[in-house]
Amino acid sequence: MNNIDSLPLILAIDTSCDETSAAVCLGRVVLSNIVASQAEIHRPYGGVFPTLAKQAHQENIAPVVQKAIKQAGIKQQMLDAIAVTQGPGLAPALEVGIEYAQKLARKWNKPLIGINHVEAHLWSVVASQKKRDLPIKQVLELKKNNHKVPSKLATPFKLSHKLLFPVLGIIVSGGHSQFVQINQVGQYNILGETVDDALGEALDKVGRMLDLGYPAGPVIEKMAQQGNSTAFDFPLPMTESGDFNLSYSGLKTAANRLIKSLQQNKKKELKTSSSTELTKQEVFDLAASFQYAAFRHLCYKLDKILASQKDTRFSQVWLGGGVASNLALRQQIRKTIKDHKLQLKIPFNKRLCGDNAAMIGVTANIRIGHKLTHKNTNLDRKPSWSLEII
Ligand code: KG4
Ligand code: ZN
Repeated sequence: MNNIDSLPLILAIDTSCDETSAAVCLGRVVLSNIVASQAEIHRPYGGVFPTLAKQAHQENIAPVVQKAIKQAGIKQQMLDAIAVTQGPGLAPALEVGIEYAQKLARKWNKPLIGINHVEAHLWSVVASQKKRDLPIKQVLELKKNNHKVPSKLATPFKLSHKLLFPVLGIIVSGGHSQFVQINQVGQYNILGETVDDALGEALDKVGRMLDLGYPAGPVIEKMAQQGNSTAFDFPLPMTESGDFNLSYSGLKTAANRLIKSLQQNKKKELKTSSSTELTKQEVFDLAASFQYAAFRHLCYKLDKILASQKDTRFSQVWLGGGVASNLALRQQIRKTIKDHKLQLKIPFNKRLCGDNAAMIGVTANIRIGHKLTHKNTNLDRKPSWSLEII
């Protein structure tokens, strides 16, 4: 797609799971990022219900796209391309975004770009806010009049030439927990990943055991602040595995056993206490202890990766995905990488951590800049698309 402007204005769409999102990005600058959450719909089921997700995406997609265009202050004629999440994700959910993006691309005669959702979580850390000193108005005026953007004006919107590779990316979401070596734009090696549940999924499942609703990750974070993280002991998994993989099933089972034994004890003491329900403080302590153990496991493997660096020196560590918005996790990671003289880069706000379309737009921009996009009018869903075969 060599005919796309070197500073593309992109409409991006993501419907990979339970958020319907559309965004407009100019280079890596986010002009709008609308997210319609379906959390309320899925809450009674304690997880995402695919048929309902598809239905909600179908209802939300048109108004969400309209809102993103309006909030960005642009007209569809000014767009250089449309980007959409092709995978990984829930097949019926992906289908809605892809079909809609395809329809718009045909109607508006724009190139269509399929983007990998996990790659986008990685690049979410380079997304930039609208800043007053950026010549956004000037660039949009040029686009409106169908003029090319001169490189002097375009540079501040682009990925910095100073960025050194490899970078170590950490993705922690409801569907993924991966350590990724970013060798270049579009070139990734998965160094380690979960062999069972993703970190967010484990937090959600333990949250369900504690009746905290869905998604439970943010609730656990809040409760943990009022709890004691050393109140309950959890094991440190996979210390002898000799790899950088993660596993949360053992921690989850330990949490389940602990909750049951606390309830059992209360049953025995029923004569003295009025119910088998855990006290508020017990729930806070469980949340704090489980969260700490789950993050300690990730940081243990992270430390192992960094300690094993010989020829490859990572220049930075990036953190993306829904769980990246957790302040305790950021703190624990910062502490781990400080010993290796590395700094953590995170997305500029929490909306960029959870599922959102701005990260899809930013990734499309970066891939166009590196000539890594192909002309497409028909995109297939790729529900299990791995980062290593992009
Ligand atoms: O990236 P995301 O929005 O969707 C996926 O691609 O999976 O991640 C959602 C996950 C959920 O498991 C949710 O509980 C978790 O991210 N999450 C958090 C926090 N905010 C969202 N986990 C811990 N602390 C948070 N503040
Ligand atoms: Zn995601």
